[in-house]
This record gives sequence, structure tokens and C-alpha cells, in this order.
Amino acid sequence: MGEHGHVTDGGDDNGSVPGAAHRHHAGLWSELAAREAALVTAVSAGEDHEPARRALVDFLRGEVFDHLQTEEMVLYNAARGAGEHALVAALELDHRSLLSLVEHIDQAATGLDAALSARALVMLFVLRMEKEETVLIPALNGAGVDVSVLIAGRREMLGPDED
Ligand SMILES: [Fe+2]
Repeated sequence: MGEHGHVTDGGDDNGSVPGAAHRHHAGLWSELAAREAALVTAVSAGEDHEPARRALVDFLRGEVFDHLQTEEMVLYNAARGAGEHALVAALELDHRSLLSLVEHIDQAATGLDAALSARALVMLFVLRMEKEETVLIPALNGAGVDVSVLIAGRREMLGPDED
């Protein structure tokens, strides 16, 4: 974990997590953190926080939701196929909490409430990405599943530059 609890560097080198998938996680995290910081800054400066809240919620409901949905469709299904039902159940709880935090950010009555939920979401997101890279993908690899093949061509898992 780095300065902000960032997912660890690497990915290309550990022979487990496809490098492009790791870089996409890092990219999502940094875009998310920048939008959360903008919300916190607006709230603490007493400025209008609505543009920052909108930008954060739009990003979450766009790129982040696309990513989570594909994980469920591709990685969770493969993990179920490998008999990892308890692991999938635990990861589904994380996704449900992420979705509920997005609703909280969107519906919060005050900027402070929105900012607090945004902070919680960023921390949960980082932990969720780390679980995927350090627990889920190694479990799939261990079951003989080639994750690179599973996610090949999926921009929402690899980012726009790689397929
Ligand atoms: Fe992911």
C-alpha cells in the first residue's frame, strides 16, 4: 500500500495479474481519488459542491460501474466455476457496499455527508481492487484459469489503450 492506500505497483512482474488489468485499476483509482479530492476541497472551502458531486457520481456510474459489471460477469462466474463460492459471496458484498455508497453520495443532504461517503467509497474501492489482484486472480490462476484470455479485448477491464 502506498501513500494513499494505492494498490501496489507491479502486475507485469508477478506473473499473476495481467499488467494491463493492474494499470487499469491504478488508472480508475487515481481518477476516482481526484474527483473525491475535488468534492472534499469544495466542501471544506464552503463552495458549491454540486459540480464536484455530479462529476464524481457520473464517473462512478460510468467507467466504474462498467468495470464492476464486467468483473461480475467474467471473473465472478469463472470463480464460481472453479468452486470459489465463498470468495465470490464476499466480493459481492463489497460490490453491494460500493453501489450503496454511490447512492449515499448522490442523495446526501449536505456536502459534508457526500464527502464522507466519498472518502469511504475510495477506501473500499482500493481494498476491493487489492482483493481482486491478490486473492481472486491468484485463485483463478491456481484453478488453471488464464485470466488474460478471459479479459482479452474488454476495454472496461484493460482501459482504452490495450485489448
Ligand atoms: Fe477490477
